[in-house]
Amino acid sequence: MKALILVGGFGTRLRPLTLTVPKPLVEFANKPMILHQIEALVKAGVKDIVLAVNYKPEVMVAVLKKYEEKFGITITFSVEEEPLGTAGPLALARDILGKDDTPFFVLNADVTCDYPFEAMRDFHNSHGNEGTILATKVEEPSKYGVIVTKPNSTKIDRFVEKPVEFVGNRINAGIYIFKPTILNRINLEPTSIEKQIFPAMAGDEQLHTFDLEGFWMDVGQPKDFLTGTCLYLSSVAKKTPHLLASPSEPFVHGGNVLIHPTAKIGDGCRIGPNVTIGPNVVIGKGARLQRCVIMEDAQIKEYALVKNTIVGWHCTVGRWTRLDGVSVLGDDVHVADEVYVYGALVLPHKSISANVTDPKIVM
Ligand code: GDD
Ligand code: MG
Repeated sequence: MKALILVGGFGTRLRPLTLTVPKPLVEFANKPMILHQIEALVKAGVKDIVLAVNYKPEVMVAVLKKYEEKFGITITFSVEEEPLGTAGPLALARDILGKDDTPFFVLNADVTCDYPFEAMRDFHNSHGNEGTILATKVEEPSKYGVIVTKPNSTKIDRFVEKPVEFVGNRINAGIYIFKPTILNRINLEPTSIEKQIFPAMAGDEQLHTFDLEGFWMDVGQPKDFLTGTCLYLSSVAKKTPHLLASPSEPFVHGGNVLIHPTAKIGDGCRIGPNVTIGPNVVIGKGARLQRCVIMEDAQIKEYALVKNTIVGWHCTVGRWTRLDGVSVLGDDVHVADEVYVYGALVLPHKSISANVTDPKIVM
């Protein structure tokens, strides 16, 4: 089987992390975001993966090429000269996606869930129409694409991208499977799959929806990245709890803590719930970590409090310092001792030695 991942632009909403690393390579639960998707696709039997990007992908090529051999797959980088939107990239990859008449998956790169690829494929084959959209329910649908089905049917009646008025709360989870005939609807030009292609397919009664079970999150911005991490860890706790730190560890507080084996945890720490700690991280004694992400090579010094925060690679957080309020520290940021930081987005290589009490960008 084949798949295309819409990797897209510069990940501006995930700055400052994406100033250093392309969004798909930012680690989510200690693994590059896109690798979660690639592994799930491989598990479902996908052999041909196209990554649709609109910038020079050298860094990604270097990181991802080794997985071709490891997984026995082909990864092709399909590079746009101008951004082609969410449908145009399918036309650009026509040679691969349309090389036979088997269906292919399309994924937004920034969504996390228990990817139900096999169940989706079976459902898609059973209805025989052109496309299937994975759907989930959310409380605040206005920032997504909303799906309205025909009565007592999985057939989509209407697809409304970013509705201004409430039309429903079942939304597009950003994962699709299509017959190659969809390629006849898409020209090689900037095109929105949500605004142009889906409404036309729904009008032709060619589009169905498949409900996702379990968690889902678009992790394209820091607040949601943290929420997505919590949801993902809860799912790991249910399915593969041995991957998490044992709740009997004296420092684990409230469960759902993922710690890389090379990380060092000081005495008397209190960590959890909902914390991920990356490779070579050092946590000083008595530190308190809750609902946060600590990336590779970071150091959290004694008695610091890190909460609702993403600490980027190679950062140091001083003693008795407190971070909160969806702060994000870019690569190699240094926060002095005894400082309070609330809601700061800190650009790479900066030092902070005074309090930041209101959300702002530190540059
Ligand atoms: N290659 C390529 N080229 N990819 C693109 C382009 C482009 O020009 N524009 C966007 N993308 C990629 C993004 O990187 C992302 O992975 C995906 O397409 C969706 O774009 P977002 O910018 O993240 O869209 P969104 O989150 O506002 O809305 C989309 O996702 C929601 C689910 O998270 C829509 O598909 C909604 O309908 C959906 O509900
Ligand atoms: Mg998104």
